[in-house]
Amino acid sequence: MEQLFEPRSVAVVGAAREPNKVGYIILRNMLNAGYSGRLHPVNPKAEEILGLRCYPTLLHIPEEVDLAVVAVPPAAVYGVMEHAAQKGIKAAIIITAGYKETGKEGSMAESDLAALCAKNGIRVLGPNCLGLINTAIGMNATFVSGDPNEGGIAISSQSGAICAVLLDWASGVRSGFSKFVSVGNKMDIEEAYILSYLRRDERTKVIGMYVEGINRGPEFLREASATSRQKPVIMLKAGRTASGAKAASSHTGALSGSDRVYEAAMLRAGVMRARNIEELIDLLLIFSTMPLPQRPSVAIVTNAGGLGVMAADAVSDYGISLASLTPATLEKLHSRLPPTANFYNPVDVIGDADAERYSFAVRAVLDDENVGAVLALMAPADLVDTNAVATALARLAAETAKPIAAAFVGGSKLGAAIETLRRSGVPNYDSPDRAVRAVAAMSTYAHLRSREEWRPEPRHGDAETARAVITRVRAEGRLQLSEGEGKEILRCYGIPVPEEGLARSPEEASEIASRVGFPVVMKIESPDIAHKTDVGGVALGIGTADAAADAFEQMVTRIRSLLPEARLNGVSVQKMVRGREVIVGMTRDEQFGPVITFGLGGIFVEVLKDVSQRLAPLSAADADELIRSIRAYPILTGARGRRPSDIRALREVLLRLSQMAEDLPELAEMEINPVMVDDEGKGVGAVDALATLKRETT
Ligand SMILES: Nc1ncnc2c1ncn2[C@@H]1O[C@H](COP(=O)(O)OP(=O)(O)O)[C@@H](O)[C@H]1O
Ligand SMILES: [Mg+2]
Repeated sequence: MEQLFEPRSVAVVGAAREPNKVGYIILRNMLNAGYSGRLHPVNPKAEEILGLRCYPTLLHIPEEVDLAVVAVPPAAVYGVMEHAAQKGIKAAIIITAGYKETGKEGSMAESDLAALCAKNGIRVLGPNCLGLINTAIGMNATFVSGDPNEGGIAISSQSGAICAVLLDWASGVRSGFSKFVSVGNKMDIEEAYILSYLRRDERTKVIGMYVEGINRGPEFLREASATSRQKPVIMLKAGRTASGAKAASSHTGALSGSDRVYEAAMLRAGVMRARNIEELIDLLLIFSTMPLPQRPSVAIVTNAGGLGVMAADAVSDYGISLASLTPATLEKLHSRLPPTANFYNPVDVIGDADAERYSFAVRAVLDDENVGAVLALMAPADLVDTNAVATALARLAAETAKPIAAAFVGGSKLGAAIETLRRSGVPNYDSPDRAVRAVAAMSTYAHLRSREEWRPEPRHGDAETARAVITRVRAEGRLQLSEGEGKEILRCYGIPVPEEGLARSPEEASEIASRVGFPVVMKIESPDIAHKTDVGGVALGIGTADAAADAFEQMVTRIRSLLPEARLNGVSVQKMVRGREVIVGMTRDEQFGPVITFGLGGIFVEVLKDVSQRLAPLSAADADELIRSIRAYPILTGARGRRPSDIRALREVLLRLSQMAEDLPELAEMEINPVMVDDEGKGVGAVDALATLKRETT
């Protein structure tokens, strides 16, 4: 790791003499950044470049080389890496493009290169990347021009363009970078490796990542979880395609597109999410300049009522709260502010407030023990020296241990003030909303960092019997289980299933119905019918033995003519249970493994998408959060005078399904839609089960 991030000597292979060539720019950037180690250009056609002695190949360099930066044409890369291996070099950055990103041939070339490097123990960043910056040792091994400031932000990016954007952004603010890593094609080094380094890097205060895809989920989760306990990790995830949804046959499958799985993975890892590049920058700015708040309550100081109202709205939107100021603070404010001011939070110092009055109010709320963070808002004010306000605010920010975010909202009239804030490292946003969002992210992180250690909550299941069901289904050459078979597996895990029996004749239907007690539900039982309602395969509320017999005849006749090919095992006659319908499901993601989905059930589940997801195995907290995080949660707690639902029993279903996912890797999907959740203390019933096996045996 040190060889890559903190090399004592660097060879730039493909160093060129022409100022517009990548190899030249890298060398020049290294020189401009003031690289503290030894630098060796490699180019067979040159004696000297930029005043440095040039070698024909890596092998000619008369000393040990820690890091090779490779910027030669694609055809020459393999040979260069052979030399690197001979020379005993252990780290390389391959800038050269033309690999996996170009198609099949490029992919093959990349595999060959990967094999060569792995065999020789060379760790590689790239190919097809922008390079790496470590400001601590004056290393800019990228071909982006400009010399980034030193600071606490570390970046790992899968896109060169995003790298360029962030570097350019930082040139205009006080924040700077500790490390900057462009990962390119991630042939070898991935985010997990980078995080494990950045976690220990003392200069790094906050980590920003741009990710399109993670290749090794478990490794990423491990490193990201450990890192987020030390410092904030913010991820911008692009590419919201629902690749996972394509193959899925269930509702939960369709609702577990890769984007939602990433969301679940980030939750597990304690990684914060930025929705777009603006948010990523907003958060990097505040985390790199401000201390974390000790409590999630903010005080707002404003010179304009409207901004204060908007900020107060945003405060509740982002889940933090307005601090209630102590009587001592209110008294202080009364003593110095004009009577027309508003003393309660938001504190409105009104439009003619000068630097003295404004900073008095800010200081007063900063000193208040109920205040965790301060939002300083400013609209253009013609009679006021707003730049003096900014200067005073900057001074306060430097003195306090609480975070301050500013929203000086305007254009040219506030230009000088905004510039002052920028230079002095007070995060300023161009709307109250963005400032509040940034402060809220800080409290989110403060909470994340102190979260409990994640521990799965295991349950015992009869995995052996469940596996026997799976083996039986496979023996018949099927992947789809019938409702009855799915429920057999649910029973193995102690998930309550209402009493039922399988009828093969109208007489049997009457008999079973009388046994389980009226009313009953009758459903077609077939491994070939995944959605029974769609084919008239569900009859609810059958009240008598005769009606059960009739329902049997009708259902079988209808489905026989509709689906002559379908295998019919008979008709399941079940106790009709009551409760609110929820959907509980398990799907598997290629990178992150089993995912548990929970939502309010019913026919609109795919339209409303009011579902929530967590990676399995679930911890106790995961199960609770899963249930609480859907919008419809109040319906379960007893909205509008209804009795609360049996949430404890529901939680058990989630934990048991999670265990099932761990125990039975052959199970590709299991969806219980619906689980009927009765009132508190009255339990739940899984009335449907839709299970699918993996294509290949594992
Ligand atoms: N045993 C039952 N008790 C009460 N309601 C039931 C029962 N079985 C099914 N239902 C109701 O019928 C609906 C459709 O049944 P389900 O078994 O889910 O069939 P489908 O294959 O169409 O999803 C369920 O969403 C639920 O509302
Ligand atoms: Mg169903």
